[in-house]
Amino acid sequence: MKVRTLALVSLVGVAAAACNQAQASGPEVTAYVTPTCSCCAGWVEHMQDSGFTVNVVYQDDLTAIKDEHGVPRELRSCHLGVVDGYAIEGHVPADVVTRLLSERPEVVGLAVPGMPMGAPGMEMPGGRVDPYEVYTFDRTGPQAVYEMRQ
Ligand code: CU
Ligand code: CU
Repeated sequence: MKVRTLALVSLVGVAAAACNQAQASGPEVTAYVTPTCSCCAGWVEHMQDSGFTVNVVYQDDLTAIKDEHGVPRELRSCHLGVVDGYAIEGHVPADVVTRLLSERPEVVGLAVPGMPMGAPGMEMPGGRVDPYEVYTFDRTGPQAVYEMRQ
């Protein structure tokens, strides 16, 4: 009986340790944002609330960094996130980023073009959400609709 209790205690200990580790090493996002953009700050907060570690890099002009990461012009929004080699353009919901990281498709990244009302960081009073698409893309343009939100 004593042995059994001990085994149980050590199992719980292992589980707790694993949890702490997962939290400390949650996916790391580098977010390139312009200093005056409030919806960008909203998206950063949304990612943090969803367990991502976000390193914010402020730049007045994001054109060069978006070119470098292969974000097609027609899909551009405000900020750019880079996570695990993927480019995340605009107000992409955290759970869609999580899906991307688990499925790891051969794409350059995900984009929510423009600034849809109600997307994470674009929350509206009254909770209005305009329907929007999350696209996968390569360097030449959009590939497919990865997810739809409304
Ligand atoms: Cu924005
Ligand atoms: Cu933004």
